[in-house]
Amino acid sequence: MPSRKKLIIGNWKMNFNTHDASIYLHRLQEAITERRDVQVIVAPTTLTLQSLSLQVNRRKVKLAAQNFYWRDFGPYTGETSATQLRGIVDYGLVGHSERRYLFHEQEKDIRYKVQAAVRNGFKPILCVGETRAERTNKETHAVLYDQLTASLANITSDEVGNVIIAYEPVWAIGTGDNAKSSDVVKAGSVIRRTLRNLYGDKVSKDVQIVYGGSVTSSSATDYLSIPGIDGLLVGGASLQLYEFSEIIKKAHDMQK
Ligand code: 13P
Repeated sequence: MPSRKKLIIGNWKMNFNTHDASIYLHRLQEAITERRDVQVIVAPTTLTLQSLSLQVNRRKVKLAAQNFYWRDFGPYTGETSATQLRGIVDYGLVGHSERRYLFHEQEKDIRYKVQAAVRNGFKPILCVGETRAERTNKETHAVLYDQLTASLANITSDEVGNVIIAYEPVWAIGTGDNAKSSDVVKAGSVIRRTLRNLYGDKVSKDVQIVYGGSVTSSSATDYLSIPGIDGLLVGGASLQLYEFSEIIKKAHDMQK
C-alpha cells in the first residue's frame, strides 16, 4: 500500500488574537521546511482566517477552520458558512468534542457540515471518540461505529477520500492523560473496518486517520509509528511554537 501523507494539525482553539496569530504563523513558516510527505495544518479562530490566508505560504502550511455552519447564506446571526470560507481554508474541523458537548452539536449538524465542506471544496477533518464513561462501559467500538456511520451518511465513495478522520478520545483531550498506543491501534482498526464496510476495501485505504488528545513532542513518534495512523491533531502543544515544530520535525524524520 503506498504510504499516505502524514498530517500534523495544530488546533489553536480560542487562543491568539490576530496579531499573535500572524506572528506565530510567520515564525512557524521560518522554522519548517517545505515537504511533500508531511502536511502541516493550523486551525486558528475564525476571526483570523481571512488575514492569515493572505499571509500563509501554502507550500508549507495550510489553514483549517475550527467550525462553520452548513447552510450557505441566510438569517443565521453569528454564523460563518462553509461557502464563506471557500478559498480561504483547505480543511475544516467537524464534530470536535468541544462542539459536541459544550455547544450541543448533534449528529445531524455534523453530517450536514461534513457535506458542506466537501460541497465547498475543502476537506472535513471529522472528529470521533468516546467519553470516559463510554470507555469504562466498553462502548468505544460502538461509539466510533455510530459516529462514523451517522456523520458520513451523505458522503459518497467518490468523496470519502477527501475526508480525514481524527480519533480524539474525549477523556484524553486537554487532560495530559493521552491514549496508549494500543488504544489508538484498536480505535484505528475499528475506524478503518467501518470505512471498509461503508465504502469497500480500495476506497477505505485512501482515508487518512489521525490521533488527537494530549499529544506532545515526546509522544508524537509513538503514534506516528502506528500502521494506519497518518498524523496528529494537536491542541495545547500546538500553541508553543517550539513544541509544535518539534512534532513536525519528528514527522519529517520518520518519513526519511
Ligand atoms: P490537547 O492536545 O490539548 O489535548 O487537545 C487535543 C484536541 O482537542 C485537538 O483538537
